[in-house]
Amino acid sequence: MLFRQLFEPLSSTYTYLLGCEATGQALLIDPVANCVDRDLAEVHGLGLTLAWTLETHIHADHITGARQLRERTGCRIAAPAIDRLPCTHLGIEDGVALAVGSLSLLPLHTPGHTDGHFSYVAGDRVFTGDALLIDGCGRTDFQNGDSAALYRSITTRLFALPDEQLVYPGHDYQGRRVSSIGQEKARNPRVGQGRSQAEFEVLMAALNLPYPKFIDYALPGNQQCGVCPDDLPEQLQAYCRRMEDSAQG
Ligand SMILES: [Fe+2]
Repeated sequence: MLFRQLFEPLSSTYTYLLGCEATGQALLIDPVANCVDRDLAEVHGLGLTLAWTLETHIHADHITGARQLRERTGCRIAAPAIDRLPCTHLGIEDGVALAVGSLSLLPLHTPGHTDGHFSYVAGDRVFTGDALLIDGCGRTDFQNGDSAALYRSITTRLFALPDEQLVYPGHDYQGRRVSSIGQEKARNPRVGQGRSQAEFEVLMAALNLPYPKFIDYALPGNQQCGVCPDDLPEQLQAYCRRMEDSAQG
């Protein structure tokens, strides 16, 4: 498998490029709207053809690049079926594998950050979106978030994977790139170290995180698989501007 971990600095989002060497087909997990040029350069630089984009969930902190990638390459869009987005070509369901050439991704429904959130297992890796982060987890106070559900998703589904399974998160805010199930079980301060569900729920309820500054634009944009709104305030326009453009100021 060809593999790239790509970083978007505004929302600290990781996009993952998976490519099948045998067939040349590629898939992007959680692409970001302002990075589609970079993503396509990576895909084509590896001699690959983009077959699919795949979302872990409806994001609140960035706009997906899926629609632009679809328009530019003819790729298809896969996203959790539970969200019933009319713009998707394939609704992801628990346990129903998605094939990309000779690669196979196994979807695990991991609700709690959002009710429709999925993680994806591919070989010795698991892409955990915003369910399980390195030494952390996604917030549970928006989008039908539910701390009890997130605790169950992490401890009964993700922690059921082998300790050696590599954990690739949807975000990291400190430059960390990869962890493992064993490492998260052992030291994740929210759900590791045998923390109980009751402890986790108290901890999540006490986080008092600020209102997500982009959510009111990101959710409607992402429900259309990545439409940038016309009425973005000046201070948020970088979320939709191509990276090259923003580099030029
Ligand atoms: Fe999220």
